[in-house]
Amino acid sequence: MNGTAPQPLLSVRDLRMHFPGRRARSAPVRAVDGVSFDVAAGETLGLVGESGCGKSTTGRMIVRLLEPTSGTIAYEGQDISRLSRRELRPVRKDLQMVFQDPHSSLNPRQTVARVIADPLLAHGSSESAARTRAAELMDLVGLIPEHMDRYPHEFSGGQAQRIGIARALALDPKLVVADEPVSALDVSVQAQIVNLMERLQKELGLAYLFIAHDLSVVKRVCDRVAVMYLGRVVEIGAKERVYAAPAHPYTQALLSAVPLPDPAAERTRERITLLGDPPSPAAPPPGCAFHPRCGRAQAVCRTEAPVLRAVATGERREVACHFPGAEPAASRMGG
Ligand SMILES: Nc1ncnc2c1ncn2[C@@H]1O[C@H](COP(=O)(O)OP(=O)(O)O)[C@@H](O)[C@H]1O
Ligand code: SF4
Ligand SMILES: [Mg+2]
Repeated sequence: MNGTAPQPLLSVRDLRMHFPGRRARSAPVRAVDGVSFDVAAGETLGLVGESGCGKSTTGRMIVRLLEPTSGTIAYEGQDISRLSRRELRPVRKDLQMVFQDPHSSLNPRQTVARVIADPLLAHGSSESAARTRAAELMDLVGLIPEHMDRYPHEFSGGQAQRIGIARALALDPKLVVADEPVSALDVSVQAQIVNLMERLQKELGLAYLFIAHDLSVVKRVCDRVAVMYLGRVVEIGAKERVYAAPAHPYTQALLSAVPLPDPAAERTRERITLLGDPPSPAAPPPGCAFHPRCGRAQAVCRTEAPVLRAVATGERREVACHFPGAEPAASRMGG
């Protein structure tokens, strides 16, 4: 901790979500198992990892759609993880979420005006003020305000995601958790939505927790990136460092799957294929949970869980690995 650093906007510490097992005596699902990170005002933290590693659960706890099993979520210094609905009200408007599938997250029976105005009405706006604001928001996200009385199914996927973004912005949030906001969209539309989110961030000073399952999507947008594996953060740091010199074998494997823009480099790109599927979060392997898939694993990896720590003094990047380093253990990781 740096005594002179400003207080982060969001500070998550040792956050856990253990869902009850499917049967009465089965082990709980450790969807999120001790996650810590900060998000500063106006910055973007990318949160990446394979499907099922706990990204959505983390995002949903932060906006309090889910109550954490344990840990703290400090927003502007106040722990909001245990607040009641009523106590949460003044904070709720600052923390909003954009969902992966725009159409299924919009009520099909409500007009777009109503969808966007809903949070405003819930916070005491008059009908006419909410409608005026909805028109402004549509304009802000690149939709035609005259279309406000249409229904969500009349819009394309990309337009529907703009509606979801407009709704998230209705209450002037400071932090938006964007849960794979472009994963369900056509590739041609993805860049437009990413551009829109970047523009809105600059204009409105928003902070984003930008969730994605691979590192290519967040490469442009994020300032820092956190890589999750089986409910934990295994590497976190400045984007430039993590992309240029990933230190965790899992980050190296994820990065090796990202195509390179330079055709010559792309032809010789070394791909690290991960062995097998991720283990179940109901029965995580002992020690380092990545050890059954790691080509660098030693005996200690099977018994001792590595904790997140700085790779080098002075570097603001942390890695949870007993043998962190630049060596891309490609040949030993199968493929
Ligand atoms: N409501 C729930 N009840 C039980 N298990 C859940 C629930 N929600 C998510 N999970 C499990 O928690 C793990 C993490 O899920 P999720 O956070 O959705 O991962 P991601 O978003 O990274 O794909 C998965 O194994 C998933 O099956
Ligand atoms: S702790 Fe061991 S098993 Fe885990 S990632 Fe590092 S080298 Fe691999
Ligand atoms: Mg998810």
